[in-house]
Amino acid sequence: KRLYGIIGDPIEHTLSPDMHQFWYHQDHVAHHYHVFHVTKDQLETAVQGIKALGISGCNVTIPHKVAIIPFLDDLDDEARMLGAVNTVVNKNGKLIGYNTDGLGFLRSLEHHQKYHLPDHPQVLVIGAGGAGQAIALTMAKYGARCVDITNRTIEKAVKLSRSCQVFCESNGISLTEAENGLEKYDVIVNATSIGLSEHDSLIPIPIENSKSSAIFVDIIYNFETKWLRLAKQQGKRTLDGLPMLIFQGAISYKHWLGHLPKLNDMDAFLRNKLE
Ligand code: ATR
Repeated sequence: KRLYGIIGDPIEHTLSPDMHQFWYHQDHVAHHYHVFHVTKDQLETAVQGIKALGISGCNVTIPHKVAIIPFLDDLDDEARMLGAVNTVVNKNGKLIGYNTDGLGFLRSLEHHQKYHLPDHPQVLVIGAGGAGQAIALTMAKYGARCVDITNRTIEKAVKLSRSCQVFCESNGISLTEAENGLEKYDVIVNATSIGLSEHDSLIPIPIENSKSSAIFVDIIYNFETKWLRLAKQQGKRTLDGLPMLIFQGAISYKHWLGHLPKLNDMDAFLRNKLE
């Protein structure tokens, strides 16, 4: 019987314990997944605690994904590329940092849209924060033909595009350029917090100029954002953030238990929790 968990601040509303406990039950293992509320000033001590208490692994969320790195013993390639960690594995007392956010996004997109996506899609990522970085770099590394990034603070978009250029064509562009050139993209992703509040009337970018086959993805999962609702009304295919959450969790689970959990019922289970 092992102990896993999640560290973050705030952390009350996380769905990760429900998700992992569901999978433990499904796999007939007696592990437990605990919520650890850890503030910034307690992070180092908390990480020492993982070792001292023999906790087998944990997820890491806001605001610790970058700050935890100096306290870990090693990083895998994705975590190194993204400069951020969302999963820690305790390997015989050594703490290894992984990042499953980007691959979680990619797998969720493949899973839901694989028959509709070109092999090498042209991608627009709106937002150059932590989530935008994970999505843009992972799409660039794993087969996109082009990844363009737009952001309120354009300097961050340009910087991120330079990192993506190692893998494919990538441009940091203004919101106006993105809007005028929207027809170019197969996948349009909102990785900002615009729309995060249910009453938010802002949308990240107007939908009108996009091509008919474009897929609109919003990483927000608590409810359907105004943007996704508008895209749907205009006949576009849409994907919210819940599948990304599930796939990042499933890949973390694999790092810990050695196999992917069966995902069949998870989407309905979590949507039911969110209602
Ligand atoms: P996360 O880790 O969730 O990506 P983050 O790193 O704080 O969070 O990034 C938030 C993203 O949302 C950024 O791209 C931010 O734009 P800036 O880099 O210009 O700050 C974007 N964002 C947040 N609120 C926004 C708003 N009202 N309008 C436009 N962009 C916004």
